[in-house]
Amino acid sequence: MRLSRNVIAAATIAMACQGAVWALGNGGSDAQQKRLESHLRIARDFATNSDYAGKETFRKAITLAEQVNANPASGDKERQQALEALKKASKEYLANRPGEWVRIKNGKMWTDDRGREVQAHGAGFILLNDTYYMIGEDRSDKWRPDVNMYSSKDLKNWKFENKIIANEKTHPELGSTRMIERPKLFFNDSTGQFVVWCHWEARDYSASEAGVFVSDSVAGDYTFHSGGRPLGIKSRDCNIFLDDDGTAYFISTIEENTDLGLFRLSDDYLEPVDYTVLFPGDRREAPAIARKGDRYYMLSSACTGWDPNPANLSYTDTLTKGWSPLHKVGNPIAFDTQAASIIKVEGSKDTTYLYIGDRWQDPNLPESKTIIFPISFTDTDCAFNYVPEFDINFATGEWRPVDLREGMADRSGWKVIESSGEKAGNPVGNIFDGDLTTIWIDEAATPTAEGEDAIQYFVIDAGKPVAYKGFRATPRSDAGSSEGLVRKYRLETSADGKKWATVSEGDWLPYWTYVDTDPESARYFRFSSLGNHSTSLAEFDLIAQ
Ligand code: DGJ
Repeated sequence: MRLSRNVIAAATIAMACQGAVWALGNGGSDAQQKRLESHLRIARDFATNSDYAGKETFRKAITLAEQVNANPASGDKERQQALEALKKASKEYLANRPGEWVRIKNGKMWTDDRGREVQAHGAGFILLNDTYYMIGEDRSDKWRPDVNMYSSKDLKNWKFENKIIANEKTHPELGSTRMIERPKLFFNDSTGQFVVWCHWEARDYSASEAGVFVSDSVAGDYTFHSGGRPLGIKSRDCNIFLDDDGTAYFISTIEENTDLGLFRLSDDYLEPVDYTVLFPGDRREAPAIARKGDRYYMLSSACTGWDPNPANLSYTDTLTKGWSPLHKVGNPIAFDTQAASIIKVEGSKDTTYLYIGDRWQDPNLPESKTIIFPISFTDTDCAFNYVPEFDINFATGEWRPVDLREGMADRSGWKVIESSGEKAGNPVGNIFDGDLTTIWIDEAATPTAEGEDAIQYFVIDAGKPVAYKGFRATPRSDAGSSEGLVRKYRLETSADGKKWATVSEGDWLPYWTYVDTDPESARYFRFSSLGNHSTSLAEFDLIAQ
């Protein structure tokens, strides 16, 4: 057992203060000491970075555990008791966290506490008490992704913690012949180590390997532990899953994207021990597993590069066998996302599952967005419904939908006075009927002058001037089709319906989210979809000033 001079000094002080007669211990194992120390570090961070009722009691529990840890006479048994008491105290303190509603909005780049954009794609999460640590690909240098870590108590306000795995620095090949995709994070209770598993790849995806990195502290500089094909098997897109009994798994797309491989990991989470082939020949990637009760659910995608495709669900009661046939959930493009993680928010009143997906290439790789929305599992299905925003309460575990018309301009006097056309049964008036299931479709691609984009459009007379500061064009979200999605667009406004000014245009209309414009006022609005052979839209809104 290693004891530093500081630890011995602390032990002496602790014993003197307490004036206690210590039970005779055997000195204990290194492993148990490490374990208690890492939990102590987590508890101290928790106390330092939070301010809930009962903090003094919690601090006392930490001090007691520190004393046991520092006492050279403590054995494994004493340390185990101290660990359990510490965990209990952390839980009790956490229960005093006030229940606040947080509004999470999708569709824009997040910014961190430094005011810089959050770069953590293909994200993995770990929850330590009240704090989520998120790691993900830093794609700011597109093809040289390394790994950033951020922390947050509400998945909304993000603190940059560290570049935990850095190009050139952590591994000589990283940043030149190697890159990292989809890094995921474990905390191993028995070694006290934080362990990252990731896709450890060559630029042309020919290596097909997994990488393992470790650190003694959550936000430390991680060191390379190993890289290679797990059990000799080609491995790409990946995720991890920690079961309730502490068994850890690495799951990846294996054998040139043909099957999924579920690798059971060693107790220290560092090595694959054995593996099971799942969904042979189904060509699935981006797997994400969640457990509800005794049932496991997996979301996965097909392999279409960076382009979205439908999320599929499968479920089983035994991780290694019996997975149900895959079936589609959500819409045909998974609301322009691909699964990265599923977070289980367990609160005092409810449990909410949050889907975390990547909206890749939005429109370029570094601007890919991280999208979050609540999902729920029934016996054999998953309600997988995108929302551009929602409220969540991390203390109670509840979520609630947001009135999507909140903050939008009144549409009661609106009329469509002109449009490029409409398919029978899909009239243009559907864009402001408040019903997401009714949509406008125009299948007649009206060419303008030669060489110009085909155009589908509508003109709204709002009846009176509207003070707006942006708009939201809600795409169709039915399970059957995503045909007619608008990307190239233009929004023009006019005071008199004759003289028009463009207030927003671009080649990339962000998917189902808010588009800001300068705050202005106008009565007439002309929205055009350009270069589409057909156009569909569920709703059109103006964001009120
Ligand atoms: C889709 C995967 O899910 C991503 O992680 C990435 O590997 C891209 N394919 C590469 O085309």
